[in-house]
Amino acid sequence: MNVSNQSGGGGQSSPEHQRRPRYSGTHPKSFKQKYKEQNIAAHPELRDHLRAKGKTPAGTHIPVLTEEVLGCLKPMPGQIVVDCTLGYGGHTLEFIKRIGLTGMLIAFDVDNAELERTRQRLSKVDTPISFHHSNFAGIANVLNKEKLEGYDIIFADLGVSSMQIDNPDRGMSYKQDGPLDMRMDNRLKQSGADLLNSLSEDELAKAFWELSDEPDQQKIARMIVAQRAIQPITKIQQLVRLIFAVKGLTSASWKKKQRNSKFGSLHPAARTFQALRILVNDELGSLRELLRLAPYCLRPGGRIGIISFHSGEDRLVKQSFRDGVKQGVYGSASPNPIVPRMKEIMSNPRSASAKFRWAIKTDFNA
Ligand SMILES: C[S@@+](CC[C@H](N)C(=O)[O-])C[C@H]1O[C@@H](n2cnc3c(N)ncnc32)[C@H](O)[C@@H]1O
Repeated sequence: MNVSNQSGGGGQSSPEHQRRPRYSGTHPKSFKQKYKEQNIAAHPELRDHLRAKGKTPAGTHIPVLTEEVLGCLKPMPGQIVVDCTLGYGGHTLEFIKRIGLTGMLIAFDVDNAELERTRQRLSKVDTPISFHHSNFAGIANVLNKEKLEGYDIIFADLGVSSMQIDNPDRGMSYKQDGPLDMRMDNRLKQSGADLLNSLSEDELAKAFWELSDEPDQQKIARMIVAQRAIQPITKIQQLVRLIFAVKGLTSASWKKKQRNSKFGSLHPAARTFQALRILVNDELGSLRELLRLAPYCLRPGGRIGIISFHSGEDRLVKQSFRDGVKQGVYGSASPNPIVPRMKEIMSNPRSASAKFRWAIKTDFNA
């Protein structure tokens, strides 16, 4: 097993011991300064303090809609469950408690660094877990490899984890500065910067509109093409500044607007970053493949549940489950998306846009 960077201090592995970054003051701001949060098991008081304020400790992830997922997918002792998106292992741990020692958990993640960290964290768990550094589009291959007839439960919690968002080296978030990487899987050839500097204006505008409903898609695409002719766009804050300029904002005017807004507004760069990330990782392509294969991989009576975080994903899930019910592949499916309660949103604001849908494969013998 290639265990990389067990210190949890960043996306890159380092064979040598590195000194902890020093900072003045008592309130760590950057991801690197939050080394205590990244070793949160050793600092339970810090975890309680941050969670009471509705914050996610850096380097960790709070699972969303857990009660609802378990209530609808009903994991039972002895079952075979696939967690398509292992992440920090929050949902996996809950499944494991219910399937017990006679069950089996199959875990996928495209992010090898996080997969290895979670594998270490779960190393004391007795339920058999089979880890796969693989896209969940490979669920059918793994079914064959594991010589299984079918899965009882297929679960996916789409998108990126808090660990990936918080680490500026991954380039997923507009909040700090770092390389515009955005790859969840380090085997992918093209980063966010590569796509920004190579796609045509029309291709960029189409992606910003179709993948995140960015209303200034054409102006942002035009500005990117003009800017990259002078200097390639490779850093997070280069792109953020460009988007602010297109929207006629400055960092100060945006902060003022935020202060005056009762519920806070969406960051001006949020949609563009989301679209670029989805494009880099071909997130919709993987989801389509998962939805296509799931009915063949589920046992009769088996259940599938998917949490999505934006309308493009939710539309695909809704359509696939509805078509499945019409064709008789699924016996039933959630009539409406299940969303977090206010209590959950207050305790974990990152859950706010989550939507959960489920379907049950038809069992003709039942
Ligand atoms: C929202 S997080 C999952 C969090 C997890 N449920 C938990 O409770 O900790 C999504 C995870 O799925 C992974 N991921 C995203 N798309 C994937 C894909 N197509 N195949 C496999 N893993 C994927 C990401 O790397 C990330 O670690």
